[in-house]
Amino acid sequence: MKKHIAVLPGDGIGKEVTRGAIEVLRAIGERFGHHFSFSYGEIGGGAVDELGTPLPDETIELCKNSDAVLLGAVGGPKWDRLPVHLRPEKGLLKIRKELDLYANLRPTNYYSSLADASPLKKEIIEEVDLLMVRELTGGLYFGKPSERVERDGSDAVVDTLFYQKEEMVRVIKLAFELARNRSGKVTSVDKANVLESSRMWREVAEEVAKEFPDVALEHMLVDNAAMQMVRNPKQFDVVVTENMFGDILSDEASVLTGSLGMLPSASISEKGPYLYEPIHGSAPDIAGQNIANPLATILSVAMMLRLSFGLEKEAEAVETAVNEVLNSGFRTRDIGSPGKKMVTTTEMVEEVKATI
Ligand code: NAI
Ligand code: MG
Repeated sequence: MKKHIAVLPGDGIGKEVTRGAIEVLRAIGERFGHHFSFSYGEIGGGAVDELGTPLPDETIELCKNSDAVLLGAVGGPKWDRLPVHLRPEKGLLKIRKELDLYANLRPTNYYSSLADASPLKKEIIEEVDLLMVRELTGGLYFGKPSERVERDGSDAVVDTLFYQKEEMVRVIKLAFELARNRSGKVTSVDKANVLESSRMWREVAEEVAKEFPDVALEHMLVDNAAMQMVRNPKQFDVVVTENMFGDILSDEASVLTGSLGMLPSASISEKGPYLYEPIHGSAPDIAGQNIANPLATILSVAMMLRLSFGLEKEAEAVETAVNEVLNSGFRTRDIGSPGKKMVTTTEMVEEVKATI
């Protein structure tokens, strides 16, 4: 099989982890007889420095002409003071919108070998297997107006939480479809006791549920969900929620695995190409030191093999290799503990490749 992948390394550790993930894809190509080719695009702070925009048109074109997109991360303190339209995150938000990536899938699995890396008790996180489905192109992060205003003579500010019903329908439907092939339960998270948008979300979830009699639907308020996520995460299978709630809850869910550096994601659209990225940011505190954990990005590549290319065996080969490497005791610093073999980013990538 021949596939062309657009790679947007971005800033900070984004460059280090995407480099590693590409090497893993090459190793998969060699073992299974596929040809993966790569083109590189600019996004984020580096793009602002070089081209004066966080998302150049060439990058958008590159992505639209690819079979899948691999993204690292964007941002860093260097660009924090820029005007809003030049901020690195604008690049990320814009590529999501341009590719119409309406759903972000964030699986959180339990790794028995990492039980010691989570601050939570083993009994709580054991066998956790949840899939967060986060709406990605609507809600507070995109609503207009979003600006400083003056109200009654004082400085004020407005952000807008806007959704069209169809935007809710498609992401909630996707969650139900995914639940069908899992344990058959969807938890829809909202704040329906307070927000009108959440009341509509809940109605839509009820409507969609009628088409899926084989899937159970449960509603949960977001504040309770945040608590349940660390108190009893095993109750969850598929969790579906709007953009900002999903952003927050999925970072929280990363604690179940032990590190942000372990969590992959896939962002999908109706037509493709899909975009794959680790859920973590550019980690300026550790950038350039070759100590970042590349596994979130490597696991994102496994999702790419499965969801974009239909290469299930190859996806499993990546996931199995990650598991074996962890079982053999190799650890980057974020998941390290006494008695384990501490490795750098590049050494971790070498271990995964060798195992493949
Ligand atoms: P972050 O996710 O970059 O880092 C949070 C903490 O986790 C840091 O201590 C970092 O060292 C650690 N960490 C993250 N990924 C790791 C990895 N792979 N291996 C080892 N340790 C890892 O979030 P933070 O610090 O809030 O934001 C840093 C910058 O990243 C900001 O400019 C922010 O806007 C941006 N950001 C970008 C995202 C993206 O591109 N998708 C997502 C989140 C933040
Ligand atoms: Mg986030």
